[in-house]
Amino acid sequence: MNKVEDPSGGNPIDQEFAEIFSKYLPQDLKMRDTIKVLSVGCGFAYEATGLLDVLPQADYRGIDTDKLQIEAAVKRHQGLSSGRFRAEVADIFQTNSLGEDNDLIIIRNPAFTANRSTREIQTSWTEVIINCTQALKIGGYIFLTSTNKAELEHTMAIINQDNGIQIINGITHNDIRQSGEGMPFKDDYIAVGLRLV
Ligand SMILES: C[S@@+](CC[C@H](N)C(=O)[O-])C[C@H]1O[C@@H](n2cnc3c(N)ncnc32)[C@H](O)[C@@H]1O
Repeated sequence: MNKVEDPSGGNPIDQEFAEIFSKYLPQDLKMRDTIKVLSVGCGFAYEATGLLDVLPQADYRGIDTDKLQIEAAVKRHQGLSSGRFRAEVADIFQTNSLGEDNDLIIIRNPAFTANRSTREIQTSWTEVIINCTQALKIGGYIFLTSTNKAELEHTMAIINQDNGIQIINGITHNDIRQSGEGMPFKDDYIAVGLRLV
């Protein structure tokens, strides 16, 4: 049986995400009466508690293809009311998994594309962004953080092309942080915010 790691104390990446998210949270999103949040490839959904603290009117739904992580995520957040937190086994490449009219889609440390060729990375990553864009409402946001430079470069390439995806750099922020002592990774950490118009 696979062993699922679920460290309960959080880690510096989660802290970093919470800080960046709070800092760059768009005001118009914060002011909405209801906020439908989707986290794709949510894993253990570590970000949910902090996000729901910052956005008390939000409903969070996380999806991931890994059943064990989803089960652990549900267990981890069982103190939250069921309306506010859901986590389900679903595949981002199945577009009906994403729902519709999301106000905010979180793509956090994705690395969906590991072990694939550059051409495949480009194709599949473009598909991820397009699928997410189509699951947003107008004025909805994608908030992406990654340490994977290929994913970020392809994201910026998609944004910079006039290919009908209609994403603008509404809250774009490139936050390149040198990892400090004790950080569990060595790469730069970059956050990108996109707004669908
Ligand atoms: C690097 S982990 C990030 C997990 C979490 N977002 C975090 O930051 O802690 C990438 C996650 O994407 C999930 N994943 C990979 N392919 C997926 C797919 N096609 N649909 C949904 N989730 C997927 C994996 O199971 C894994 O949990």
